[in-house]
Amino acid sequence: MHLPNYKEAKIRNKEYKTVEYKLDENYLGKYSGKTYFLKTYGCQMNEHDSENIKAILDSIGFSEVNDYMNADLVLLNTCSIRENAHNKAFGMLGRLKHLKEEKKDLIIGLCGCMAQEVGVIEEIMQKYKFVNFVFGTHNLYRLPYIIDKALMENKQEIEVFSKEGDLVEDIPVRRASKYKAYVNIIYGCDKFCTYCIVPYTRGGERSRKKEDILKEIEKLVKDGYKEVTLLGQNVNAYGKDLYSDYGLGELLEDVSKTNIPRIRFTTSHPWDFTDKMIQVISQYSNIMPSIHLPLQSGSSKILKLMGRRYTKESYLELFDKMKAEIPGVSISTDIIVGFPKESEEDFLETLEVVEHCKYDNAFTFIYSPRENTPAAKLKDNVDNSTKEERLQRLNTLVNEFFLENNKKLENEVVEILVEGKSPKKKDCYYGYTKTNKLVNFTGKDIKEGDLVTVKITDAKTWSLDGKLFK
Ligand code: SAH
Ligand code: SF4
Ligand code: F3S
Repeated sequence: MHLPNYKEAKIRNKEYKTVEYKLDENYLGKYSGKTYFLKTYGCQMNEHDSENIKAILDSIGFSEVNDYMNADLVLLNTCSIRENAHNKAFGMLGRLKHLKEEKKDLIIGLCGCMAQEVGVIEEIMQKYKFVNFVFGTHNLYRLPYIIDKALMENKQEIEVFSKEGDLVEDIPVRRASKYKAYVNIIYGCDKFCTYCIVPYTRGGERSRKKEDILKEIEKLVKDGYKEVTLLGQNVNAYGKDLYSDYGLGELLEDVSKTNIPRIRFTTSHPWDFTDKMIQVISQYSNIMPSIHLPLQSGSSKILKLMGRRYTKESYLELFDKMKAEIPGVSISTDIIVGFPKESEEDFLETLEVVEHCKYDNAFTFIYSPRENTPAAKLKDNVDNSTKEERLQRLNTLVNEFFLENNKKLENEVVEILVEGKSPKKKDCYYGYTKTNKLVNFTGKDIKEGDLVTVKITDAKTWSLDGKLFK
């Protein structure tokens, strides 16, 4: 049993070592014949963790099923970012409780960011005693031993570390796609934005060695992968803890030289986006001109309260530089409304920035207070109906620009990485442009994973229609 605590989660300790994943041979195939269902609630990083978890479960003999009703093990890979993610996971636990009353042998596990929360663990220990095991974000590679211990000792096993521990390489992975792959480049976050729980659930910034990243991508190229997405809570901080003169710009250059056709990266914090990165993105054709640049708020007053380290003006300066220097770049964003002390004027400044930036995509949220974060201690003085109304107004505006930007692509010829076939319509496929826009198109003799050119025939708010050009 090991429980999380926030004091340790807050410490930034740059002493860690890289070690290799190794499974005790006695565990290989140990659970043969058993089935599992894994549900993922979080971001791309969580999805990628699930790709590791699946491969580990496969290696100890479990096989995946698509319906939790038929599973011997149900594992929830959770997210803490907003209350609704939380509620969804607890709702599922409620359903599982009933299922377990009928199916006594059902094994239930919980992992991911919620496992790192002190309050969640207390609740699970008191009210969700039927949960067999819990592990955190820093020790997913220990899954075989944790399941085993829970079942052997027949009591709830909780193993959550708030201190990050070693950086483990070569954890097995079963990727969801044969053509698109996630590659972690940096774990954790040191930004401590005042509203955000991630620095506590994911620990300090730790970069993977460049050699390990490049080796992984070279293997992906050999295996026929067409696209990699470099992952981190703040990829711009890549390398700072390891090297004095090698950051995301240099890494992107080296990844570009592997000749993988498409490179994406996410997420970038505006604060340390360097000129070198802008130059590299504009120079190499296999680095996609598509940047996610979270704004959060357009008011410098609110940005300061959020601890975002930039102002409205410096954000706009960076945005304009990207637009000027990276040909055809598309920029998407995240925005929070209803942060404590956000006045109508502050909100209007957010709308003003949106009017200027005309984002290609935007994820918009109502502020959700999170346990142990500094912002949760601020007086929340925006009432719920105002929050809802601001979200509506913001969404109406961002949607206008999605459509306006998409309209500009009508009759243009664009490159698409084919992701799949429409299940309903014959000769209908879908995929994404370099700028990360979804296109549904018609054509013949196309395979998943092909890079094709498509002529855009019709623009909608969230997607485009087209037909195969050649
Ligand atoms: N590391 C990324 C953010 C990951 S979380 C970055 O800094 O860009 C994704 C988004 O969730 C954030 O950009 C933010 O808009 C939103 N978010 C984070 N904490 C939140 C909270 N407490 N309430 C509402 N939205 C939040
Ligand atoms: Fe959260 Fe800020 Fe870190 Fe993003 S940069 S994960 S919003 S603390
Ligand atoms: Fe959620 Fe954790 Fe990702 S809180 S957004 S799953 S890092």
